[in-house]
Amino acid sequence: MREVAVIGVGLTKFGELWDKSFRHLIAEAGSKAILDSGISGKDIDAMYIGSMSSGRFVGQEHVGALVADCSGFSHLHIPATRVEGACASGGLAIREGYLSIASGMNDIVVVGGIEKMNDVAGSSATETLATAADQEWEAFFGATFPGIYAMIATRHMHEYGTTKEQLAQVAVKNHANGALNPYAQYQNEITIEQVLKASMVAYPLGLLDCSPVTDGSASVVLCAAERAKEFTSKPVKIIGSGQASDTLALHSRRDICTLDATVYAAKMAYKQAKITVKDIDLAEVHDCFTIAEICAIEDLGFVKKGEGGKAIDNKITTRDGEIPINTSGGLKAKGHPVGATGVAQIVEIVLQLRGDAEKRQLKNAEIGLAHNVGGSGATCTIHILEAM
Ligand code: COA
Repeated sequence: MREVAVIGVGLTKFGELWDKSFRHLIAEAGSKAILDSGISGKDIDAMYIGSMSSGRFVGQEHVGALVADCSGFSHLHIPATRVEGACASGGLAIREGYLSIASGMNDIVVVGGIEKMNDVAGSSATETLATAADQEWEAFFGATFPGIYAMIATRHMHEYGTTKEQLAQVAVKNHANGALNPYAQYQNEITIEQVLKASMVAYPLGLLDCSPVTDGSASVVLCAAERAKEFTSKPVKIIGSGQASDTLALHSRRDICTLDATVYAAKMAYKQAKITVKDIDLAEVHDCFTIAEICAIEDLGFVKKGEGGKAIDNKITTRDGEIPINTSGGLKAKGHPVGATGVAQIVEIVLQLRGDAEKRQLKNAEIGLAHNVGGSGATCTIHILEAM
């Protein structure tokens, strides 16, 4: 297998973007990444785009070809493929791009992620997101993702004594990080009291325990590592890539507080990278709800199972803690345009490893991890990156 590097990144602002169309968002993120990388259209061997449900959100399918078209490359006839795995669509697109270069098939690949979720009413967005749950066993009976993650949270509270205050602290930390990210949907700091008093969505998760409904797009340019220095002085290598799956329905899992897809994908990525979890300097994890970040830091091995809440109390995941988590603001504050999220996580890790993360820049970050989850954990991708 050949080594693969990220040589360019691009992001749109995340939020409620009424003034921008679906194609405008794709073109903006893609052209920023291409400019950042120093390549031109004729260098691109393939494009992969993650999008969960563009048909339901904006009435647009056939997104692969659209991306090549609206990027101005239709005359180049570049192979362009859409990848779907619910909220892990972006992570899967990264992995497909990575594999196509690692295999020797391609040298340079543009990977994008897109979702425009605010063109439909909130109730439709919730219904569309719920198509990623098990239709026969969950969605048909009215289970939505806030409800499904609420079941994980109540079980975690019961098993391990995790508190609502600890959940709230995840949101407080991620909003503090988001306040330093000009691309974040929410750039306001919040307090524990505000999280605890916010209107209830599904007990114990209130409004501020939830990631929002977001429009946005992200893009990266991947390149065979041996050619990366032709284009940039600051390439970032992908040293591990893992993917795993699990049951679609939560109730079929051996333990609803553990996302086994995360455990298995992480094992695969750590093994390939020849590192242990102790070597990771920062991570972007899939905090679609505050409980999801607590489960993620446990399942990735940063802390033991059941100790995620305590770790938050001990501030080990803040920007100046032992293992900074979600320096971008995470899904909670940066926003969660579902198909774009996995790609946006890679953008943040690359910015941190290149020293380009401005006000939220960490000191001495060398190895970063991105953790992207589809549904309540039926799909997971992990990527580990290192500055070259
Ligand atoms: N965090 C912070 N603020 C939020 C927010 C969130 N998650 N969601 C909405 N808001 C704010 C809005 O900006 C708005 O503020 P304003 O009045 O100052 O303009 C206010 O709360 C009301 O917004 P509204 O859009 O009416 O909220 P809603 O009740 O329709 O939706 C949720 C709130 C939590 C239900 C919605 O954000 C949601 O469904 N989130 C989960 C998304 C999801 O499931 N993703 C997939 C995960 S697997």
